Order: sequence, then C-alpha cells, then structure tokens
Amino acid sequence: MVTKKKGQTVDHYHETSKHHHPHGYAAGPGYTDWENQPDSFRTYHPVTRVALPLMADGMPTGYEQLFVPGSVQSLPLDRHGLGGLLELSLAISAWKEYLGERWSLRCHPASGNLHPMEGYLVVPTLAGLAGGIYHYNAMEHCLERRFIPADGAAWDRCFAPGEFFLGLSMIPWRVTWRYGVRSWRYCNLDAGHALAAVGYAAAALGWRARLLSYVADGCLENLLGLRAPAFDAMGRGMGEAEREEPVMLVGIACLPQEEKWQVEPLVQLAKQGSWQGYPNRLTPGEWRSWPLLEEAIRKSRKPATLRYARERPAGPPLLMRGESPLASRLIRQRRSGQSYDGRATLGREGFLRIMDRALVRNRVVPWDLLPWRAQVHMLVLVHRCEGIASGVYLLTRDGEGLQRFRQQSNPVFSWSIPAGTPDSIPLYTLLVGDCRKLAASSACHQEMAADGVFTVAMVVDMKGALQQGGWNYRALHWEAGVLGQMLYLEAEAEGLNGTGIGCFFDDLLTERLGLLGQGWQVIYQFTVGRALVDNRLTTLPAYTLPVD
Ligand SMILES: Cc1cc2nc3c(=O)[nH]c(=O)nc-3n(C[C@H](O)[C@H](O)[C@H](O)COP(=O)(O)O)c2cc1C
Repeated sequence: MVTKKKGQTVDHYHETSKHHHPHGYAAGPGYTDWENQPDSFRTYHPVTRVALPLMADGMPTGYEQLFVPGSVQSLPLDRHGLGGLLELSLAISAWKEYLGERWSLRCHPASGNLHPMEGYLVVPTLAGLAGGIYHYNAMEHCLERRFIPADGAAWDRCFAPGEFFLGLSMIPWRVTWRYGVRSWRYCNLDAGHALAAVGYAAAALGWRARLLSYVADGCLENLLGLRAPAFDAMGRGMGEAEREEPVMLVGIACLPQEEKWQVEPLVQLAKQGSWQGYPNRLTPGEWRSWPLLEEAIRKSRKPATLRYARERPAGPPLLMRGESPLASRLIRQRRSGQSYDGRATLGREGFLRIMDRALVRNRVVPWDLLPWRAQVHMLVLVHRCEGIASGVYLLTRDGEGLQRFRQQSNPVFSWSIPAGTPDSIPLYTLLVGDCRKLAASSACHQEMAADGVFTVAMVVDMKGALQQGGWNYRALHWEAGVLGQMLYLEAEAEGLNGTGIGCFFDDLLTERLGLLGQGWQVIYQFTVGRALVDNRLTTLPAYTLPVD
C-alpha cells in the first residue's frame, strides 16, 4: 500500500523501478512498439518563427578557459548570443546515417537517444528579438514565439540588464514509451545532462547560468505556458498532444553584476498577454501513462522553497591541462561509445584531473549551476589508469558524505590514499583488485563497463535526501546527470570517450561491497575509455543550410 508519508512514495517508486540481479528487470512495455515511436522534436503551429544564427564555429573560447572565471570575454545578449547558447546546448550536434536510416544526435546525451527535454527562452526585448517567451525548435534551430506580453514595457522592466531565463520542461512519454517504469529516472538524469550542457555553453560565451531551484513547479508551468490556456486549447483537430512537465528554470546573466532574477513578476505578467500556437502530436497511436510513474511525478513535484545562500568556499585551485581544444568543438564532438577498447589506458594525471573536476567549487562550471551541497558521491572502479592500482575507490564530494561512509562502511576497506593524490582530492582506496567482472555484471552485463579505463557508480544517501521532500529525488538525479555531462566532456578532453549507463542492477554493487542496507543507493553509472569507432556509420553535419 502507498502511504501518504512525506517522500515515501518516491522511495517506493525507486524500489519498484529497480533492476534486480540476475533477472528481475523493472516493468517495461514488454516490446518496442516502433510504429508508435514519439517524435523527438516538438514544434508549435501557428507561430512566428525567428531563425537563429549558427555561430559556434567562430567561437575562440578554449575548453580550459571555461574553468577560469572571468577569462572569457562576454558576448552581448542578442539573437546571435542566444543562437550560440542553444547551438552548444540543446541543438543537434550531428546526424548519423546507416543503410538509408538517419538519426540526429544532440550536444547533450539522452537515454536511448529519446530526448525528453524541451527548452523555452523567457527574454526581454533585445536587438533583433521581441520580448516574450519562445520555444526552442532544435530541428530547425529557430525560436517559436509562444507568448506576447500585453504590456511590453512592463515585461521588459522585470529583467535586470543582461539577464534572462531558460526554462526546461520534459515529455516523459518519449522515454516511457520504450523503458516503462524506470523512465522517470532516465528523464531526470537527462534533465541534469541538459542543465549542464546549458551551463557549459553559457561559460563558453562568457555568461553565467544558475539553476533557480526555489521556483515551484506550478509557477514554472504557468510561466512556460504548459497548461491552460495554451495547452488546453491545443487538441482541436489534432488529438490530444502529449503532456509536458515543468522541470527547472535557469537564470542566465551576461554581465558581471549581482544576479537578481525576479521570477514572480514575470509569472504575473504571463497571465496578461496572448499565447500562440498549439503543440504537435508526437505519437501516431495511443499514448498511455503508467500509474506508478504518474504517482512519482506527482509526489516529486516541487513547492516553492527558500533560496540557497549562493557563495561557497572557492575551493582549492583546479588541476589544469596545458593544452586546450576549442570548447565549441569539444562540446559538439561529444559522443557515447557503444563498445570500448579493453586495452586502452589513461595516465594518472589525466585520471586525477577528472576526479578534481568532480569537486564543487564556487563560480566554476558546472558546479556553479547547482545551489545545494554535493549529494552524489562516486564509487570509482579503476581498470587501467597508470599509477593507480586496479580496484574500487571512493571520491566523496562533500565532507558529510565521507563521515557517513566511514562510520558505516565495510571494515575490510583500506581507506588509504593513492600515492601522488593531491590533498585537495578526497579519493580513498577501498579495495584493490581486478573489478572488471563486477563492473560489467553490475551494468546489466554491458561489457563497456569492464572495457573502459574506469567506471563510476554514483551513490547517494537516498533516505537522508528524501527527508527534504520528494522533489529532492529529482534533484539527486539532476546532480548525477550534471556529473555525467562533466565526465563526457572531460573524457573528450583527455582524448577518450564516455557513456552514461542507466541500465544497471541497482543493488549488485552495494551488495558486493558490503554496503547494502546502509541507505546508499546507486542512481547512475558511467564508463570512460577509448570507444571503438563503428565505420559503417556516416556522420553528417548538424544543420546543412545556412539559417542566417
Ligand atoms: C541517462 C542515460 C542513460 C544511458 N544509459 C545507457 C546504457 O545503459 N547503455 C548504453 O549503451 N548507452 C546508454 N546511454 C547512452 C545513450 O544511448 C546515448 O546518449 C544516446 O544514444 C545518444 O547518443 P550520444 O550520447 O552519442 O549523443 C545513456 C545515456 C544517458 C544520458
């Protein structure tokens, strides 16, 4: 029976959506209904469309510059800047072709390439763009004008100079269609990846992005026009369009000033104006909801909460790379490996740099996006990193996590510090030995987890986290998604690749490490290594026709 206790039903969802070793997979549709695959591009009709320029090719920012606050000269906030922000975050990054089949990839990954996320800009009047709310059409790299304020001057006054908002929503059905009950987890991991993609893109433009986590879902839903009257009226003649859930609001600032981001006045003004266009229907046939998933969505909806205090300790200096590829190239070349070269290695310096980038620092991307303390820790299964013995390690991303781990952990853990690890990186050896088999079997027998140079299992204190409220379930997955995006880009910067692993046996690793029953839950896995290239596939450019 589902009780009404705070957070409990989300906990129940987590338990019920687990894959259990050896053969208990979470409930799914049982088959893949290809005929009914939802379109991964939403569009609105009829609306005014505004073409966005493609400008990432000319962007001079080096990837390493993203981590040095103030080192990138800010681009002005105009249609060009917005085009660059979206081109490096939510846009298509390439098309793949095989035997006449074509599919697109984007700067941010998504479980099964199903892409549940949608993006909306909330902007004042800018050079070349009227003030209002726009849906981002990733297929055509253009904006679709959804909301025209009744009083444009009052609308513009709500924005501090150089500030605007990017709202993210999601269409869970795109993922539920294929993955059933577990899809709500995937959607939230995907949301974290998308958020991080926005953060990195903003940094490449010399802008700053922050998750405004205090905003309630109801408020965001109204601001983005995801309900009445915009969505209610949509069905006419087209059948009911698939529902979109509010996810998060990101504040973006282009000038070095104190950030204001006043949301409430905009929400009020969004009630006085006109909403344009109806969303397309994504699925040819029936779309259905899963009761357990619907319950999880309801129970993890976010009320308004207090703003977190923003400033955090600066943290130790970052370990930097001597050479830096262009940020715009690295962001767009990111790909998930499908299989990995089981002989590839990573040097110790490269390994430690990646661990270092996982640590929260004030005003350093991507951790400046999230206002809360780190809640996600990393169990690192090292396979082939030079100078680091094969084995299981723990990177604690917050002091409290370390304390809790040490109090409750397995007495056989060594807790030694790998030689040559800087004091600033809280990396501990737990067990030494070959853990490739463990990595692969934990990842539902996906060999990539054994063939990578290392594999990460992201662990959280689920019970403790849910005491804050059911909505924190989503926040945990967003943080894990941000961590995943960081690993993808860092792997590319080391000349390697990464793959997010959402399909894993939930309790296998914690059980084998003697951690089961202590409240630790794995919520995401990730492998880093040298991907084997599939030469049968042809790669085509993202947008072939110039749009500006
Ligand atoms: C949350 C999440 C879970 C994923 N899980 C798996 C997985 O279990 N196995 C796998 O081979 N790929 C997995 N992937 C990789 C996706 O299949 C991949 O991102 C998608 O096909 C798009 O390709 P791209 O990353 O190259 O853009 C996952 C990606 C994400 C973001």
